[in-house]
Amino acid sequence: MRNVVLGICGSIAAYKSATFVRLLVKSGANVKVVMTPDATNFITPLTLSTLSKNPVLVDYFIPETGEWNNHVELGLWADLMIIAPASANTLAKMANGLCDNLLMAVYLSAKCPVYFAPAMDLDMWKHTATQENISKLQSFQNILIPPGTGELASGLHGEGRMAEPEEMMEFISADIKKKLPLANEKVLVTAGPTYEAIDPVRFIGNHSSGKMGFAIADELAALGADVTLVCGPTAQVSRQQSIKRIDVTSAGEMLEACLQNFKTSKVCIMSAAVADYTPVTVADQKIKKQDAGFSIDVKKTVDILSTLGAQKAPGQILIGFALETNNEEKNAIDKLQKKNLDFIVLNSLNDEGAGFKKDTNKITIIDRNLQKTAYNLKSKDEVAHDICQKVVELIKK
Ligand code: CTP
Repeated sequence: MRNVVLGICGSIAAYKSATFVRLLVKSGANVKVVMTPDATNFITPLTLSTLSKNPVLVDYFIPETGEWNNHVELGLWADLMIIAPASANTLAKMANGLCDNLLMAVYLSAKCPVYFAPAMDLDMWKHTATQENISKLQSFQNILIPPGTGELASGLHGEGRMAEPEEMMEFISADIKKKLPLANEKVLVTAGPTYEAIDPVRFIGNHSSGKMGFAIADELAALGADVTLVCGPTAQVSRQQSIKRIDVTSAGEMLEACLQNFKTSKVCIMSAAVADYTPVTVADQKIKKQDAGFSIDVKKTVDILSTLGAQKAPGQILIGFALETNNEEKNAIDKLQKKNLDFIVLNSLNDEGAGFKKDTNKITIIDRNLQKTAYNLKSKDEVAHDICQKVVELIKK
């Protein structure tokens, strides 16, 4: 939730708006409150402007300054509109396009999803007129936050009580999440380097920071995916709380973690810089300095991406990276085909701003039909967005 217009109508449930505004602001939303004139009898604009940190709008005109509140602009600014409490009167106006106050003008101008939380007495709620208005609003794709049952301000007991602020927050978050493009999709992402031990204090590693993989995992989680992030040694932290992180050190450990999670994943994106070689033996004790030269016998690690490519079931989507210095496209296409990928993300170390430890990257995506999409130099977050949009396109096919 980013920009939220909260519409408040004249109902005793308006007292809950203070808590609701606090919860919205706490969740990171910018909140602008629009009240009907009657709502100001139940809760003061001052309370709501203090909590929302924005002026509260009631009228079309501000008499003191002669300014006009631009309802069209406000309707377009909003990513989300919530009308809570929504009185029987306002529901009737919404259903019929009546526009006799600023809130209704904003409602009619809004292009974003609109949620409404009715609040009224038992018999008003049950009345056919109210129920028909609600059905009509739902046919406009407005979303009902169902009222609860309990003691009403009239003293009667029954349905019609506005949902509690915490319940409304939960309802809206769950509704937004379920409509995200990757909702309920399980995704596996790898990130960072792997370290291959030589002895208890030394290892063979690489310069991968993990930034690209972490940005991809964050973006996928923001699109609603259920993300498992397998990462080698890295200082990166995820912004999205929902990401399940599995820390590993070596290529062998990364392989194991991937095999455990791949079968149940719809998508796997291998952005880790996995070591291609690992020492044949790991010394138990620290290797002492010698006068003569010193060499380490290494053996090949298992190629994780190829292993997963060989196991890929129909419908699974597998994505790899290719970091190249020469013959870039040819090498990338070879990897795409050999490893049975759906697309490969190519970055060339010859491109300024691309590669390890940078905050930017420049990529070309090559898909199974060898269709190439070249992107400009962008921040790793923007690159992650481009890659994830390709994933969404593939899933929707
Ligand atoms: N990869 C992997 N397991 C390995 C090595 C690489 O899963 N043991 C994956 C990487 O995560 C990346 C892709 O394979 O998504 C390509 O990695 P890269 O190192 O560019 O290619 P390699 O196949 O190792 O070939 P080369 O090093 O010869 O370029």
